[in-house]
Amino acid sequence: MDLSNRTVLIVGGTSGIGRELARRFAAAGSTVAVGGRSPEALSELAGEGFGVFGIDVTDSVSVARARDAVLAQYPGLDTVVTMSGVMLLEDLRDSAHFEVAQTTIDTNLVGTIRVVDAFTPHLVERGAGTFITVTSGIAFLPFPPMPTYAASKAAVHAYSEALRVQLDSAGVGVVELVPPAVATAGQEKVNPHALPLDDFAAEVMELLSQDPTPDEILVERVLVHRWAERDGTYDGLVAQRSQALAMLPGRQG
Ligand SMILES: NC(=O)c1ccc[n+]([C@@H]2O[C@H](COP(=O)([O-])OP(=O)(O)OC[C@H]3O[C@@H](n4cnc5c(N)ncnc54)[C@H](OP(=O)(O)O)[C@@H]3O)[C@@H](O)[C@H]2O)c1
Repeated sequence: MDLSNRTVLIVGGTSGIGRELARRFAAAGSTVAVGGRSPEALSELAGEGFGVFGIDVTDSVSVARARDAVLAQYPGLDTVVTMSGVMLLEDLRDSAHFEVAQTTIDTNLVGTIRVVDAFTPHLVERGAGTFITVTSGIAFLPFPPMPTYAASKAAVHAYSEALRVQLDSAGVGVVELVPPAVATAGQEKVNPHALPLDDFAAEVMELLSQDPTPDEILVERVLVHRWAERDGTYDGLVAQRSQALAMLPGRQG
């Protein structure tokens, strides 16, 4: 993918990985708009020259309104990144986790589907363009303190695979970004060994710039997760990662 001439919308671009990739796409020469809920973050990004759009991916009306506003301002939009996500801990022995499970599925999985649905007619009509969906190494190797998160990302992986096949003949590509633990605000509490955001983003832009663009963007650090089952390391790694259950508030002391 030529990163110097795209017109990109990053939904979930108001912080963390999305904001960093927005800045890097812009630095490479692309036109970039970002979406999210936080008015403060949106106004800061507007100050940096980005097009900004309020959007809540759990609300179909909000998604449709944002889609209309984006396409009015950027009729040549060719790349949509579905970055919005929540990463929440759950103790499955505590029935109160159910609300977290619902929020996680509604944001990470159904939110992705809402955004993809909103922009599919536009990209299909153009006959060219790319969806970049966002999963996680945890889609392929569970992290026991975040069960519904893992389920939501495994589902987005499966959805992306089918979406790619369904849109292929329309000239629309689907690229799945699979981050490992990356040091954003969402991760600081969970993993002190997370990959620095700068290093991650640089590797992602390098992989995205390949021609043809790989179906999955896999930085070096995530390969151990992505291929654990194939490599026969799955059971040992799940056992190792289950030690992280101690981080759940109800399991301490
Ligand atoms: N950091 C990691 O270690 C890691 C690892 C694997 C995968 N990922 C995935 O990468 C993506 C970004 O993660 P991050 O670490 O950069 O997290 P982050 O800094 O918390 O960013 C999350 C983004 O999602 C947006 N968002 C959340 N709920 C939303 C909603 N209902 N509607 C619209 N936007 C919403 C947030 O914007 P507003 O709050 O402004 O709405 C924000 O822009 C997520 O999908 C995450 O699951 C992250």
